[in-house]
Amino acid sequence: MERSLVLIKPDGVQRGLIGKVIARLERRGLRLVGAKFMQVGKALAEEHYAIHKGKPFYEGLIAYITSAPVMAMAWEGPSAVAAIRQTMGATRPLEAAPGTIRHDFALEVGRNITHASDSPENGKQEIALWFKQEELTSWSRDVDRWIFEK
Ligand code: RTP
Ligand code: MG
Repeated sequence: MERSLVLIKPDGVQRGLIGKVIARLERRGLRLVGAKFMQVGKALAEEHYAIHKGKPFYEGLIAYITSAPVMAMAWEGPSAVAAIRQTMGATRPLEAAPGTIRHDFALEVGRNITHASDSPENGKQEIALWFKQEELTSWSRDVDRWIFEK
């Protein structure tokens, strides 16, 4: 089963959107396998966003993600990465489709509520970066057979 890291960033937490984001992922049929509410330190932020180092928005991005607590989660499902990115919407809220989280709750790219992994490989890597193995729970739901075809 494919997995993705999902972060509800400091703006989402401050604006009281944790429940709304989780509700949308649950409603989609995705399965939660790990969650923790935490303050992000500079070292973790820099490792998580290493790919953006040197870009003009990098310093602001590190300041943003470390500015207040985040809700870090691991979610799984068939094609979970693509499904979750679709539910989040485009990075720039003004380009996000109506009905997506970033369309419905955000205006600016630097305050776009959530993070989601952008490939299955990065999903694995990011979950390993943010969670210890014992913080992840493999489980099944009675309803799974009505959501997952196989
Ligand atoms: P994310 O990693 O947060 O899920 O978002 P993403 O893949 O859609 O976007 P990515 O290119 O990975 O960028 C990571 C985050 O950096 C901020 N950003 N600001 N000012 C800018 O031009 C700019 N570009 C990106 C956003 O917060 C974005 O989510
Ligand atoms: Mg990204």
